[in-house]
Amino acid sequence: MQTNFLVIGSGISGLNFALQAAKKGKVTIVTKKKLIDSNTNFAQGGIAAVLDQTDNFEKHVEDTLKAGAFHNNKKAVEFMVKNSAAAIYRLIDLGVEFQKENGKLSLTKEGGHSHRRIAFVGDYTGKEIERILVKRVKEHPNITILEDAFALKLLTQKSFFGERTARARNKANNLALPVMSRSELYNKTCIGAQIIRGNKIENILADQTILSTGGVGQLFLQTTNPSIATGDGTAMASQIGCKIKDIEFIQFHPTALNKNTFPKFLISETVRGEGAKLVNEKGENFMKNTHPLKDLAPRDIVAREIYQQQKTGQVFLDIRHKSREYLKKRFPQIYEKLKKLKIDMAKDLIPVTPAAHYECGGIEVDLNGQTNVKNLFAFGEVTCTGVHGANRLASNSLLEALVFSNQVAKNLTPNQKIKQTEFDAPKILRKNSKETLLAEKLKQEIKNIMWEYAGIIRNLKRIKKEAIPKMEHIAKELKKMNGTNQEIAETSNMAITSILILKAAYKRKKSIGCHFVE
Ligand code: SIN
Repeated sequence: MQTNFLVIGSGISGLNFALQAAKKGKVTIVTKKKLIDSNTNFAQGGIAAVLDQTDNFEKHVEDTLKAGAFHNNKKAVEFMVKNSAAAIYRLIDLGVEFQKENGKLSLTKEGGHSHRRIAFVGDYTGKEIERILVKRVKEHPNITILEDAFALKLLTQKSFFGERTARARNKANNLALPVMSRSELYNKTCIGAQIIRGNKIENILADQTILSTGGVGQLFLQTTNPSIATGDGTAMASQIGCKIKDIEFIQFHPTALNKNTFPKFLISETVRGEGAKLVNEKGENFMKNTHPLKDLAPRDIVAREIYQQQKTGQVFLDIRHKSREYLKKRFPQIYEKLKKLKIDMAKDLIPVTPAAHYECGGIEVDLNGQTNVKNLFAFGEVTCTGVHGANRLASNSLLEALVFSNQVAKNLTPNQKIKQTEFDAPKILRKNSKETLLAEKLKQEIKNIMWEYAGIIRNLKRIKKEAIPKMEHIAKELKKMNGTNQEIAETSNMAITSILILKAAYKRKKSIGCHFVE
């Protein structure tokens, strides 16, 4: 199969890109479950943007830098914030109906924001955006959707371009000068991906391949992320020499519901944005004296404080001062979910706990989504554009995904120069093979190891002496298997990405943002 643009992953960024790129050429979307199964679908809060006259560009930039512990790439932050309002209006044009009051967009607040600047749709913003994008993508004649198709590896060819050719190409494609050196950028070309579909291996050749595979939450025992978030993009990209940056910065959302749900059900930060307080078993609002922003301090700070409080008892959210009518209308999804679990948020305290939520770093890309491998681009959670620094500001994730996928779509053009090439295909193993059963067991071990060693508080000595050797052993077990399938490949991706996280965490000796060293 051959296509102009191969998009791997079907979250907000992949679908948003596909819609725009389809005006220029043929787009193929590969997604390992159904089109709708993405992290986006789980995003409750909203999208941060400068949309109010009393807000300004500088304040949003400043809040993003502060939350990121000033580890951010300021240029990338400015670029994202400048393009924030346009990204929201594009969604409105596509049919997303953000909440309004008196004809104006309603704006809510989350941790780390100095202003109400988050556009939202109830407490199911991501779901609504995904619904509209899926509808539009399905209608488009130039977009082919391959569901239940698992990207096994990226296909590459060697190419040796000199400095001059590299510059000329950059100019022709209107690319800004990449952050990597010319020789690094142009010694490999991505020409598509090998996928497993219906127990068969297929090669999809593409002029340009785009990774929008999302995050890594499933590497951890407790996560708010759906089962698809297994670090596939990072693992595949690292295997062909892509640079990975800031991957140790895993954000733990402070308020996942403390009940046995899989994944952990999120109690959106907008609940605190609308006045909920965090209390301990004694009923004390412990954030009051911890940070000037109190319950709405940046996530890393709140998550650590809850973690400390949990040493002596449970932690709860208290929003009982709001009326039932208000809660039902403003947080319909949360209200219903809690009701099913016999928690009445108008009367009861809501038990909460931190859970792995977001990967702040990832595949290093420039402002045009270019990785250090030619014809391989990436956007969304799988990347490190530098906008999040050491800890992401709430509701900047959908924003980043939109702004950078718009940018990649604007710059890419089909080049149709790929020649048919032969590639080795691995043997596909049965779902009930002993190798698959072992992979399932190893998956659980990976989650336990990452939760214990790469969680909210990290001990570098133990990461080096215990976690890295354990994870390397798991990766070896998986590598020596005599064939593959989705379960095995996914587990292998989890092990590879975990090793990258653990090694990066070990290298960073000082605490910063969501990397907190004991
Ligand atoms: C939330 O609603 O708390 C999550 C939003 C985000 O991760 O930015």
